[in-house]
Amino acid sequence: MKEDIGGFSEEMEGDLVEQGGDRVGHVNKVGHGKRVIVKKRKPYHHRRAHKKAVPKVPKALQELFVSCRETFKGPDTVPSPQDVQKLCHILDNMKPEDVGLRSDLQFFKPENVVKENQRVTCTTMYKCDNFSLCLFFLPAKGVIPLHNHPGMTVFSRLLLGQMHIKSYDWVDHEASHHSLHQPSQLRLARLKANNVFTAPCDTSVLYPKSGGNMHEFTAITPCAVLDVLGPPYSREDGRDCSYYKDHPYASFPNGESGNVQEENDSYGWLEEIEMPENSRMDPMEYLGPPIVENCTIDKITI
Ligand SMILES: [Fe+2]
Repeated sequence: MKEDIGGFSEEMEGDLVEQGGDRVGHVNKVGHGKRVIVKKRKPYHHRRAHKKAVPKVPKALQELFVSCRETFKGPDTVPSPQDVQKLCHILDNMKPEDVGLRSDLQFFKPENVVKENQRVTCTTMYKCDNFSLCLFFLPAKGVIPLHNHPGMTVFSRLLLGQMHIKSYDWVDHEASHHSLHQPSQLRLARLKANNVFTAPCDTSVLYPKSGGNMHEFTAITPCAVLDVLGPPYSREDGRDCSYYKDHPYASFPNGESGNVQEENDSYGWLEEIEMPENSRMDPMEYLGPPIVENCTIDKITI
């Protein structure tokens, strides 16, 4: 996997030794659920010898985790406007360094040559039944194809790079719900966003039925995106990810009522498709600063 991301992993790992060298415990592999921090007690003389060895936990990351835990009380939670504002505020102020990244890592350098078929890489920083924290790394020209987030609220913060984001919402929520179970059926969707975003930029939020629940990311330069997903995807709980191909509204002008015809550019037809081959991501171990489950913000010293 390390070869797939052009040495990025090695370099990031090197940085993290520097950042988290004093920390205790270990990291989990992607998708293996909660991270468990296990403290190993050192003999006293060792502890004295390493008096400065205080685990470095970025306050912003821990604050994000604690706020997510307070916000996402169950898998059906849709955050209140106040909670959305709070999470956005935390995310807006987060720096790449808070998750162990730096803009001068090899992966993000403009001269970094994209290898053929280089895929998007993802890391799960934390996952429980109510929410998950994930990082996505897109090489230049890398694409996360148009996909949905059923019943989910997702906060996305572009930490590094520049990307194009296109997003849609269903025009008819009821009909679109049924369409999730009818592959290859066209459904009318309203274009929510179709813009280029450059880090650092504000956090974007999508909701179960608004805010651009179906979106597509296309990296212009190598990018890192931090996502908060509440609740996480779960096939068992009916929250599997579906993929779509969008067609211009004008391609099928007779299919729906005429009241949208004057705004062709603001609508599109979405066709559910099988998972595109290029949508498969390479999982990567999270080696950034740890999230401490049983720790309140006031205990964080940094
Ligand atoms: Fe997404």
